[in-house]
Amino acid sequence: MQYVHYSVMQDEVLSFLNPGDKDALLVDCTLGEGGHSNLLLGRYPNLRVIGLDRDCRIMEKAKNRLAPYGERFQARNIWFDEFWKSYDGPAVDYVLFDLGISVFHYEESGRGFSFKRQEKLDMRLDVNGDLDAAQVVNTYDEKSLADLIFNYGEERYSRRIAAAICSYRQSKQIEFTNELADIIWNAVPNEYRHRRIHPATKTFQALRIEINGELDRIEPALEGAVRALKPGGRIAVITFHSLEDRPVKWFFKNHENILEILTKKPIEPAPEECEANPPSRSAKLRVVEKLEKERDPLKKRNKYRAD
Ligand SMILES: C[S@@+](CC[C@H](N)C(=O)[O-])C[C@H]1O[C@@H](n2cnc3c(N)ncnc32)[C@H](O)[C@@H]1O
Repeated sequence: MQYVHYSVMQDEVLSFLNPGDKDALLVDCTLGEGGHSNLLLGRYPNLRVIGLDRDCRIMEKAKNRLAPYGERFQARNIWFDEFWKSYDGPAVDYVLFDLGISVFHYEESGRGFSFKRQEKLDMRLDVNGDLDAAQVVNTYDEKSLADLIFNYGEERYSRRIAAAICSYRQSKQIEFTNELADIIWNAVPNEYRHRRIHPATKTFQALRIEINGELDRIEPALEGAVRALKPGGRIAVITFHSLEDRPVKWFFKNHENILEILTKKPIEPAPEECEANPPSRSAKLRVVEKLEKERDPLKKRNKYRAD
């Protein structure tokens, strides 16, 4: 079987989530093709991993890859926030999030994540989910579409794009990725068409976030992961854009009574990694460690006093 995703910041993940040869339990909340889990299981002989992914297709690839580790690896086809909401297993030593989607989704899933391919507009990670991209672009009203493209894509031409989508669909339903990419291309000013990223990039990101509820799942999942973490245990989160990074950063800051932030500034991939794998350029890694005991809130306040 071929694995198409390149796992980012491998050395950094291995060094922060490092049990040596002790027994430990790690939850990989975004298993994907199992790249990070494979590295961790291969390096640490007494580590056990529970891998989560809502996409059952990519999870099959990971199960195949990690089968040689036998009972040290278990897979669960579930949204990560739902997993943590109902988690009643043993306390965990490490938790990893590598947010977003995988190269598999763009190149192999056939579900319309990429505007470079001619595929049906779908974009569901949960192949049985209720809402797909065709429904969003064909049924949301113009204002809701504009808000979505602005809020989840940070797209400055969100209003023009939403207006163009609504005007096009008066004569025909939008079915395919390339059809939507053309509508967007025609809606934006000429100078916007020839920049570093294709003008459809941000709208496609916004649709994917909406369909999979990506941003709404982050904080509840972190909440549950912190609850399940052993004192001294660590959570590592890799994000790829500011909409993902911001809630993680604030969550960690707001829980400084119980978490030590190990990465005062987020860690970014080394220049060699960015060169070898350009999509890793935007990655940021934040890591926290759970304190043995809650910090006294008064002490925390004193830390910032002038005297
Ligand atoms: C960036 S990829 C992970 C790649 C993986 N670390 C590797 O090295 O192969 C993210 C994966 O998480 C899954 N995913 C994203 N959000 C999820 C969520 N809220 N719950 C469960 N799975 C999710 C996606 O389906 C995707 O396969």
